[in-house]
Amino acid sequence: MSHASSADQASPGTLESVMTLEQFILDRRERFPQSTGAFSRLLRDVSVAAKIINHNIRRAGILDVVGETGTVNVQDERQKKLDEIADRELERALRRGGECCLIGSEEQPDTIPLSPQGNFQERFAVFFDPLDGSSNTDVNASVGTIFSVYTLPEDVDEKASLDVTLRPGSEQVAAGYVAYGSSTMFVFTTGNGVNGFTLDPGIGEFLLTHPNLQIPEARAMYSINEADIEDFSPELRSFLKWLKTKDPETGHRIRARYIGSFVSDFHRNLLTGGLYMYPATVDHPKGKLRLMYEANPMAFLVEQAGGQASTGHQRILDLHPDNLHQRTPLFIGSSPLVEAAEAYLQGREEDIPDLP
Ligand code: AHG
Ligand code: MN
Ligand code: MN
Repeated sequence: MSHASSADQASPGTLESVMTLEQFILDRRERFPQSTGAFSRLLRDVSVAAKIINHNIRRAGILDVVGETGTVNVQDERQKKLDEIADRELERALRRGGECCLIGSEEQPDTIPLSPQGNFQERFAVFFDPLDGSSNTDVNASVGTIFSVYTLPEDVDEKASLDVTLRPGSEQVAAGYVAYGSSTMFVFTTGNGVNGFTLDPGIGEFLLTHPNLQIPEARAMYSINEADIEDFSPELRSFLKWLKTKDPETGHRIRARYIGSFVSDFHRNLLTGGLYMYPATVDHPKGKLRLMYEANPMAFLVEQAGGQASTGHQRILDLHPDNLHQRTPLFIGSSPLVEAAEAYLQGREEDIPDLP
């Protein structure tokens, strides 16, 4: 019996048996058919920014990165120092990388055209929430970064204006997030499934640890800020009552988990099954989460992982954006739970599924 050399038989979990993000992108042809490698370089640029942001987050309290900048951002929210740092590092990495023509950030009032130096075969617009869960930065709780990638039409000049890039989420060519949790993970899709990479701080590489993620259809976890319950519609309250029902046969009851960071709740639900909800409230009559750089990228990811994302009445990826910072109600996660939420919110009691 022939024995493969020891190099071919690297034991699982050793560095020889795992793949870096860069190797994955090149090896799995995670580039566009006509790729000049520009997309690979764009993803590399985002991952470099993620490592620098991670470096700052992991030293909050040691470095002067805790607390507020003293300014109010375009969202009319008090900006945290880590919001500003993450925003700066993403813009720097994308500007330096030269593959991106235009960025749109939660922290900036308008899109920012970048003068690309790179090959113009694919020209990208990147929208991002540089730091998601800002309320968590000073209390050592999880935060994230979210990004969404579009290609620009060929005939767009360098100073691409916003209206050529504000397109439905269904036209995204890539989306992903970084979850700065108990470990730091980079999770993305280009429409060929969802893959997760864990940062090995010892070598500074994101290593493939969660190939081909699929969201379980389990009624495992739900995430919503129930402090707002008095704002919820009767239909949403009926849905929540259904959601929390104890299964008479198995005795199973769903668990509540709400971290205050969409990325963190989304990531956990992606692995366990579950539902994240941010409905319209009195304070946020159109919902709180922003379409272009929170709902759309996560909707692309969850659909690629077999889940769904809805306003409660419409598929998120079908929405036609009106402005960079527009908000939307959001129900996102395991398909049976999203469908049940839609049935309740739309008064279709006959379509309520059995408890999954
Ligand atoms: P951001 O920090 O980018 O503004 O996003 C915060 C969002 C989301 O991450 C989180 O789930 C939600 O706001 C929390 O809002 P509430 O405090 O109103 O529940
Ligand atoms: Mn956010
Ligand atoms: Mn943010």
